[in-house]
Amino acid sequence: MPNRFANLSAALCGSLLVITMSVSIANPPNDSAAIEHRVTALLAEMTLAEKIGQMNQVNADDRDLSDDLRQAIESGRVGSVLNQVDVDAVNELQRIAVQESRLGIPLLVGRDVIHGFKTVMPIPLGQAAAWNADIVREGARVAAREAATAGVNWTFAPMIDISRDPRWGRIAESLGEDPFLASKLAVAMVEGFQGENLAETGTIAATAKHFAGYGASESGRDYATVNIPENELRNVYFPPFKAAVDAGVVSLMAAFSDLDGVPATGNQFLFRTVLRDEWGFNGFVVSDWDSVRQLAIHGLTENDKDSVYEAVTAGVDMEMAGRSYVNNLETLVEEGRIDVAMIDAMVANILRAKFQLGLFDNPFTDPAALPPIASAHALETARQAALQSVVLLKNDRGVLPLSAEKLNSVAVIGPLADAPYEQLGTWIFDGDRELSITPMHAIHSLVGHDVDVRYLRAMDNSRSRASEGFDEAAEMARDSDAVLLFLGEESILSGEAHSRADINLPGDQAELVRRVREAGKPVVAVIQAGRPLTLTNIIDQVDAVLFAWHPGTMGGPAIADLLFGLESPSGKLPVTFPRMVGQIPIYYSQKKTGKPPSPDTVVLIDDIDAHAPQLSTGMTAYHLDAGYTPLFVFGHGLSYAEFRYQKIRTSAREIELGDTVTISAELTNTGDVAADEVAQLYIRDLVGNVTRPVKELKGFRRIRVEPGQTVSVEFELHTDDLAFYGRNMQLMTEPGEFHAWIGGSSETELRTEFRIIDSD
Ligand code: NOJ
Repeated sequence: MPNRFANLSAALCGSLLVITMSVSIANPPNDSAAIEHRVTALLAEMTLAEKIGQMNQVNADDRDLSDDLRQAIESGRVGSVLNQVDVDAVNELQRIAVQESRLGIPLLVGRDVIHGFKTVMPIPLGQAAAWNADIVREGARVAAREAATAGVNWTFAPMIDISRDPRWGRIAESLGEDPFLASKLAVAMVEGFQGENLAETGTIAATAKHFAGYGASESGRDYATVNIPENELRNVYFPPFKAAVDAGVVSLMAAFSDLDGVPATGNQFLFRTVLRDEWGFNGFVVSDWDSVRQLAIHGLTENDKDSVYEAVTAGVDMEMAGRSYVNNLETLVEEGRIDVAMIDAMVANILRAKFQLGLFDNPFTDPAALPPIASAHALETARQAALQSVVLLKNDRGVLPLSAEKLNSVAVIGPLADAPYEQLGTWIFDGDRELSITPMHAIHSLVGHDVDVRYLRAMDNSRSRASEGFDEAAEMARDSDAVLLFLGEESILSGEAHSRADINLPGDQAELVRRVREAGKPVVAVIQAGRPLTLTNIIDQVDAVLFAWHPGTMGGPAIADLLFGLESPSGKLPVTFPRMVGQIPIYYSQKKTGKPPSPDTVVLIDDIDAHAPQLSTGMTAYHLDAGYTPLFVFGHGLSYAEFRYQKIRTSAREIELGDTVTISAELTNTGDVAADEVAQLYIRDLVGNVTRPVKELKGFRRIRVEPGQTVSVEFELHTDDLAFYGRNMQLMTEPGEFHAWIGGSSETELRTEFRIIDSD
């Protein structure tokens, strides 16, 4: 089989360095009919208790393996462990499972490998900002190989909950607000983790999580209630999961949240009706941590036994870190409430994955058979991912890039300039902070010979309210030719159960900005954060903003290269940045409403005449104090090059249902540096059986464009690509008029039209 990543260096168009590819590893056979045969044969030998054991996942984070755990595995009561990453301990657990249990069934070994293992890639939201499936795929591939050295064979990623609420801490872990972008990147991550053949050394099973709707928790509070109408579930929240299933993802995880009154862990509609019956999924479903027992806490059930009944009936094949299945399922079968045939089908889903992973043939891990941790390739992938994920939000008077030749001195100020752990972001259980290269160190190595680089932390951490360091910061700014302010959020402010109601820069950072600004020198803010922030209160005080998310191990070198123009920023926002929290949810693909706002209809609060009558202002869908536009739109991201889009056209004004249309435009780099641009295609279906968004992303492409060069950007759209779920929850493409736009953000106005007709 050819190595699917062999062309990566070509695909990473615009990369500064060519990535050398690692060798492809031989494929053991992975024949699905043979696997089904083995699953059936094994099931026939299993007792009910052994079957239930396979449905039980146990936390095994202690390096010293307890006697209880050893005994539970030996007696066939455990199908999977999570959180053990000591390879000798994992091998010992596998040895007990295959040599000492009656049937010798190996274990699934799970771990949250979310954006890297030891080598950390940017947080997933940052990776999404690269708009590059190839780099996302390779990042997952690197993570899989490193995790596999520890005996991990299953990751709980990708997290593909559509997230339109930056208060929610887990937006950091997501791929942003848009179903199309998230779907493409979800597939890339699944491919990266799982490779072509799961039985190869260095591939691990992936988990699409959390099914479904978790990202829409009320007010962005983690674990809070979710209410999403079915039509919106199908059109917005399900597509990344469907894409992951079609890409062969091995498992799905149930969301913690209550969805329309039925918590996901007990939700038959999600796991039986949609996942199994409609999508034909043949992998397995895992609960979230103890979420079966939580069904009673939600108030759906009275006790653990009923919770197990609901979860099993809903189709949750394996319980994570709870004992409810092992304690109650046998009784439920004996009582006749659960049929053993249902258990058999669920256990088959789990065994199938174990066969696909080749665990029955080779359950043990030899780290020497895998590339070393933090290999040159891993570090270069992390650097490329960081480089492509940073978004230049603002660049007044071309203050960036800085010139090492022209500057005598630069002040590097702020709590996140030299914070090796913080730049890794959330979910880095195994991330190695010793590998981190911070921006401060990278700037020193890049320009330290030519430029006097001064450093002041100024604040102990991003939340600090102590301003003792601000006088010194102001003085340093006065004495330097330019100021680089490293602001943002530490990693603990985002991630699971780390939601915020106020998403301004925390602590007294805005005051630090104000004090530094007074020095009158060019000020560049480099912001590292796990979510979009409301930057309204500082945006006019700085000349440029590079938004770096939490950029991972190689964040420092990537940021330094961008600041000093070795490469142009090319990231684009995968999520809208609100002006203020009260605008949330604000996202580009909103519905039009019956009273759409426009510049002519908006009167803001400060402009309302004294004694103006009630109906003289407003009357369209906007906020009196915020208008209707965000601070930065979805898809936004500036470059050191200048890009001009023109001459949009369609291959046909009319197409038949079932046909394809090509939308193209010319993209010219009118600037004087070569740079990557992410060209984006949006459409609008003007009239629908249900109302359709004002714009929907339908294509994107990262392209290297040389100064003066014009390239043709082409997107093919099949009419199936324009399908949506209508009133009857059926997927449909309707004949009618469409608008299409191409450009560098969702704000593009370069538009053409086409019509779908149905002559039959
Ligand atoms: C809870 C989180 O919601 C889930 O995403 C994660 O995979 C599990 N814990 C395991 O750590």
